[in-house]
Amino acid sequence: MTFEGKISPSQFKKLSRIVYKESGIVLNDKKYNLLVARVSKRMRITKTSNVADYISLISSSKEEFADFIDAATTNHTFFFRENKHCEFLIKTLDNARPLNIWSAASSSGEEPFSIAVQLLENRFEFSIFASDVSGAMLKQCQKAIYSIDRLKEVPRSTLHTYFQRGKGKWENHVRVKPEVVKHVQFGKYNLLTDTPTDMYDIIFCRNVMIYFDTPTRQKVVTSLCRALKPGGYFFVGMSENLHGLKHNLSAVLPSGYRKA
Ligand SMILES: C[S@@+](CC[C@H](N)C(=O)[O-])C[C@H]1O[C@@H](n2cnc3c(N)ncnc32)[C@H](O)[C@@H]1O
Repeated sequence: MTFEGKISPSQFKKLSRIVYKESGIVLNDKKYNLLVARVSKRMRITKTSNVADYISLISSSKEEFADFIDAATTNHTFFFRENKHCEFLIKTLDNARPLNIWSAASSSGEEPFSIAVQLLENRFEFSIFASDVSGAMLKQCQKAIYSIDRLKEVPRSTLHTYFQRGKGKWENHVRVKPEVVKHVQFGKYNLLTDTPTDMYDIIFCRNVMIYFDTPTRQKVVTSLCRALKPGGYFFVGMSENLHGLKHNLSAVLPSGYRKA
């Protein structure tokens, strides 16, 4: 191995441009160490000894290209993260009306499953489309198995009702019960390039636009707002907002909006 944890400025530019073009994620100079760490990991896995060869590899292999984009994205999430949005919906909406919900950057599935268990507890009728650009994350959603570390915020009774505890080598894991999973459909969807095909009552697009620049955020918000039914709700992450973007939404709570 000749790679010593360094990527030249032109290689950094090339790699960050690939990530930007594919996902909209901006990797500025401050993200240099992060990109080095993630590229080194992929180089170890693919047994590639220098960055130039790795760049050639992602240009020639669709699979490695997808794995590189997966590696470059931040997938951090956990159950009941920023749960005020879901609590607001349960308090505000009438459970007699069926809901079509989209978790538009669902990562490994904790967000859609958190919403699902709470809607079930409150006797809502609903279906959730959980999408992400990352195929690896979608596979994790489909498995619906999680380390218990990710469920620290889940109330005990909810945990008991909707999750099955693992045994033996799965001791520190839980599986989301099939009665919850059946309400969630998974699909690959790139917020940057794909067009929504359905209309939704509620769209969650949380903790992803934080990685985008303003033109990309505008494009995503315009596209998602079109897929929101009149009176529908739109949520971004608690540290995000829609300042400076054109949209037809009114704020209803921090990082929560409603279409007129
Ligand atoms: C930090 S996670 C957010 C998960 C969850 N929404 C939450 O708030 O906890 C961000 C997710 O956005 C996904 N992502 C990044 N760029 C994307 C794009 N262009 N289209 C769809 N998903 C994207 C990543 O793969 C990652 O899983």
